[in-house]
Amino acid sequence: MATPHITAEAGQIAELVLMPGDPKRAARIAETFLTDAQLVSDVRGIGCYTGTYQGSPMSVMASGMGIASLSIYATELFRFYGVKRICRVGTCGGISPAVKVRDVIIGNAAHTNSNVSTLYTPGVTMSLAASFDMLRGAVDQARSMELAEGAQVHVGPVYSSDFFYLNRADVAEGLDRVGTLGVEMEAAGLYACAALEGAEALTVLTVSDHLKDGSGDMSAEERETSFGNALQIAAAGLLA
Ligand code: ADE
Repeated sequence: MATPHITAEAGQIAELVLMPGDPKRAARIAETFLTDAQLVSDVRGIGCYTGTYQGSPMSVMASGMGIASLSIYATELFRFYGVKRICRVGTCGGISPAVKVRDVIIGNAAHTNSNVSTLYTPGVTMSLAASFDMLRGAVDQARSMELAEGAQVHVGPVYSSDFFYLNRADVAEGLDRVGTLGVEMEAAGLYACAALEGAEALTVLTVSDHLKDGSGDMSAEERETSFGNALQIAAAGLLA
């Protein structure tokens, strides 16, 4: 079997999938976090690797950037490969002043300026929310571990923007006022796909930069490598 964007055979992708944005990060997660990971698909440089984590089959596959790209991979995984749970592990910009660079955000819901929230329910804005069981598993793990580098864990809504360079201070201000923790570009699409396909999803983000204070932002290299805390939390969400 194959889909337009995935060439793995039936059964080669695990029911549980870690989904970073960056294909290089997916390869690194396969090498360093999974056991005996094998490459099972590599269309457009989006490698999909399947191995095990703590004895359970687990795959890792990148989403690319943005809701449009993520929704292609998430839909094909859920609809055609029998995937039950996807956990996005990505980076975000901090919105709330309570959130610092290197902290971890577990996204229980995602606001968005994408029309993915109204596309499928005319006249109604869908609530784009994480799986409760995955969220509980991830939060339990996060609260029971000591995070590296003194990072803190925050649980709350994130904002999935269609535009990296919109730079609207008034929008960020309004989102902060209603308790939004950070900005990224995919979670709302993942939650919409999971709802549409009858599957489950969660998002665990490392804060790589801050909208209000750019002084401590991570370098591109650090964004690719600083994932330990978020990965352990994400995997616990998948296994919950
Ligand atoms: N991902 C990481 N930082 C981001 C930002 N500032 N805006 C959108 N997506 C991001």
